[in-house]
Amino acid sequence: MDTSPPRLEIKDITRSFGGRAVVDHVSLTVQPGQVTCLLGPSGCGKSTTLRIIAGVEMQDSGTIHVDGELVCDTIFRIPPENRSIGLMFQDFSLFPHLTVAENVAFGLRGAKAEKRSRVIQLLRRVDLERYIDDYPHQLSGGEQQRVALVRALAPSPKIMLMDEPFSGLDNRLRDDIRDDTLAVLKEEGTAVLLVTHEPDEAMRMADEIALMRDGKIVQQGAPYNLYNAPKDREAAAFFSDINVIRGKVQGALTETAFGQFLAPGVADGASVDIVIRPQHIKIDFDRQGRGPNPTPQDGTPARGVVERARFMGNESLVEFRMDFDQSILRATIPSVFLPKTGTPLWLMIRRDRCFVFPAKG
Ligand SMILES: Nc1ncnc2c1ncn2[C@@H]1O[C@H](COP(=O)(O)OP(=O)(O)O)[C@@H](O)[C@H]1O
Ligand SMILES: [Mg+2]
Repeated sequence: MDTSPPRLEIKDITRSFGGRAVVDHVSLTVQPGQVTCLLGPSGCGKSTTLRIIAGVEMQDSGTIHVDGELVCDTIFRIPPENRSIGLMFQDFSLFPHLTVAENVAFGLRGAKAEKRSRVIQLLRRVDLERYIDDYPHQLSGGEQQRVALVRALAPSPKIMLMDEPFSGLDNRLRDDIRDDTLAVLKEEGTAVLLVTHEPDEAMRMADEIALMRDGKIVQQGAPYNLYNAPKDREAAAFFSDINVIRGKVQGALTETAFGQFLAPGVADGASVDIVIRPQHIKIDFDRQGRGPNPTPQDGTPARGVVERARFMGNESLVEFRMDFDQSILRATIPSVFLPKTGTPLWLMIRRDRCFVFPAKG
């Protein structure tokens, strides 16, 4: 068993501004060679957490260790430049008066020839060697981004902290740059803590996601687990649109128009929210409006009428007005099918893909 300490470990970090805890007892670890995404809505405290790790902001309490060694508590503090941490932020501004080579070499120590060969190696890696003696303004946004990446990586930091580094890029470029960036980071073996408010970006990049809300980490794990086993309704809703059906529990079961759902550990009479992602609602095509055709896995079909259907390219997004309570349910279905408004259809739910949570409020 590997007993070496995590590359980065922060324990119980708290930071308040004006009496409000913006970072509230945050603990997390990042392993060498891993990308961990700190994911959460705007204002939840992600950047503050990152700034504390970088050493440009002080925590009120809590500790930071790198490779098992104390970097910072409330008394002892290694200055930012000695933490072996690379930084990359959204406005990563390269130095405009320095060439690409000089930018990349900026944080490097040592002999000139050595520095030069590291600069060439990195620029070659991101396919920008030809710009080595150009100035930043001669490069496109995406190219500048890659220069900023290798500038941060040049001194081989133990940890890279990245704060929404891709949000300034246009959509088409962004996926490629994310993938390239990830490949370079993996090759360098750097531990990465990447801040983002976009779940798609986190799922694309992360080995682990730490989901943050109101200054707290609510759940940390592999993207697969956060998506498929969210801790609560809000965590489920952060990754996709959701449908919610309210149910009452009797004997650890709740009865709905779609059949029974398990509600283990919930008291009789309590309400639960059954949370369903739009892609887990199926249309019972075979019946084509001719009534229920239940199978044990799928539960009971329920009828709805198409209220609105939109073609989205890869899929169609269909809103149904349900007969049983007139609520709206959203389903995503293969885009070869785009039903007309007013069409009655029978819907089924993948019950094994739903989440049942005690109802709030
Ligand atoms: N220096 C500061 N003084 C006062 N409030 C701050 C300061 N820095 C951040 N905040 C507040 O803390 C909250 C979290 O900010 P931030 O960490 O930037 O969130 P995120 O990066 O998740 O969007 C925000 O409400 C912000 O206004
Ligand atoms: Mg931020």
